[in-house]
Amino acid sequence: SWSMASVIDEQVAAIRHRVGDARVICGLSGGVDSSVAAALVHKAIGAQLTCIYVDTGLMRKGESEQVVETFRRNLGIELIHADEGQRFFDALAGVTEPEAKRKAIGEQFIRVFERHTGGVSDAEFLVQGTLYPDLIESGGTDGTASVIKSHHNVGGLPDDMELELIEPLRDLFKDEVRALGTELGLPDEMVWRQPFPGPGLGVRIIGEVTPERVALLQEADAIVREELARAGLEREIWQSYAALLSDVRSVGVMGDERTYGHPIVVRAVTSDDAMTADWARIPYEVLETMSQRIINEVTGVNRVVYDITSKPPGTIEWE
Ligand code: XMP
Repeated sequence: SWSMASVIDEQVAAIRHRVGDARVICGLSGGVDSSVAAALVHKAIGAQLTCIYVDTGLMRKGESEQVVETFRRNLGIELIHADEGQRFFDALAGVTEPEAKRKAIGEQFIRVFERHTGGVSDAEFLVQGTLYPDLIESGGTDGTASVIKSHHNVGGLPDDMELELIEPLRDLFKDEVRALGTELGLPDEMVWRQPFPGPGLGVRIIGEVTPERVALLQEADAIVREELARAGLEREIWQSYAALLSDVRSVGVMGDERTYGHPIVVRAVTSDDAMTADWARIPYEVLETMSQRIINEVTGVNRVVYDITSKPPGTIEWE
């Protein structure tokens, strides 16, 4: 559109002017915001930009491959794929408390990032996909006030970091960022991706996070996403996912065998901004197919429940 084209022109000029011929790095999460920010900065300065994708091992099924493929091959952006799952699993061993998980994950994230930014030795700038609402929720548009949500990228970086921030989306709302992404040529599956928390499946496994549990949850989660896509419901749903209650077991029967397995929780909400949310009225037939497929296809799961809690009093994530 006209307005997005002019936002692009303005930002491209501003970024070029500010950066000169310095090197710039960008941490890519696979989410809409960092993807659009990276594409915009790449348009401005091309090969002066290097992106780093930290693969925490806690991503959804096929997600890392898709991010790397889109950026490297479709958009021609230089990308370091930091495959660091083991480091994250080590840090999460024995950790069950939600905030302790976030802290462990956040810490490893920064370590990985710093190690790689050390490699891009002459980088002077860091791109962040901060949006206007992120700045508000983080306690002010100068990004310095106390945080309401510790998880946003604003303020999550070490104080002694010497990189200067580039935040080309800081005046925009989510819908504008999506329009901008489309204008920049990002594919729909990236532009319309649901929000996904930085700690990934780590906060969707209730209990200790292990590689086996992540693998199980990835299968169940993929079924939830596939069935919503098949029903054409993706875009009206703000977020949808499967969570694993790994410390809970219940009795079931399959064929003439008694089973004793874990429940999967299906969660799907509608929302405008994640501050409040309502559980999505998914048609019963869609829920039925999800349930049957999860139990038949995911070993170790013998029960599927649907979460009918709104926010408040629930939150969108279980942890
Ligand atoms: P809650 O669960 O608080 O989530 O209703 C609100 C929105 O924030 C996302 N979320 C996170 N995002 N790191 C993130 O980057 C986190 O630790 C985190 N926790 C929740 C959640 O997916 C929803 O979109």
